[in-house]
Amino acid sequence: MEKSEEGEEYLFKIVVIGDSAVGKSNLLSRFARDEFDLHSKATVGVEFQTQVMELDGKEIKAQVWDTAGQERFRAVTSAYYRGAVGALVVYDISRRTTFDSIKRWLDELKIHCDTTVARMLVGNKCDLENIREVSIEEGKNLAVEEGLFFIETSALDSTNVTAAFEIVIREIY
Ligand code: GTP
Ligand code: MG
Repeated sequence: MEKSEEGEEYLFKIVVIGDSAVGKSNLLSRFARDEFDLHSKATVGVEFQTQVMELDGKEIKAQVWDTAGQERFRAVTSAYYRGAVGALVVYDISRRTTFDSIKRWLDELKIHCDTTVARMLVGNKCDLENIREVSIEEGKNLAVEEGLFFIETSALDSTNVTAAFEIVIREIY
């Protein structure tokens, strides 16, 4: 977190993690540019976007970092996590394997960040109700177990995308 001399500007680094194709890049593009891509390519390396928002009359800059879910496309992990104060840990509600990976992502987060990082478990693609494999209950239970916030989102139809980021930012701020 950085604070300007006037004490009125805040910069928060937030990382987005989770298996490949859960929708990390689309969550970010929906949040930062209100864009969605049905045919987005797997991320290679690291990208980030800064989104300015206003909370309680204060200007806040959320610098959101997005990296590849695929191991072979990932950049240096320690640099990715450095300075992060918030994390979105994402799975796809229509693919159970991505939910099963959450513990592994949380372990990685614990290795690289201290415990004060605000963490949100995100069940993305909630528009795919008809092919759901992970219930809301299961998501909630895991979040309680691990001490995370929990939300279901859809980058496709915009459900809860801003809320997911805002809740994390509020917790930090
Ligand atoms: P990596 O970069 O490989 O780690 O993947 P990613 O997690 O960034 O996934 P990405 O955002 O590229 O999305 C993967 C696929 O899922 C794309 O075809 C998206 O259009 C689709 N997708 C992303 N979010 C949603 C969503 O909320 N609903 C639906 N139905 N599809 C989505
Ligand atoms: Mg991506």
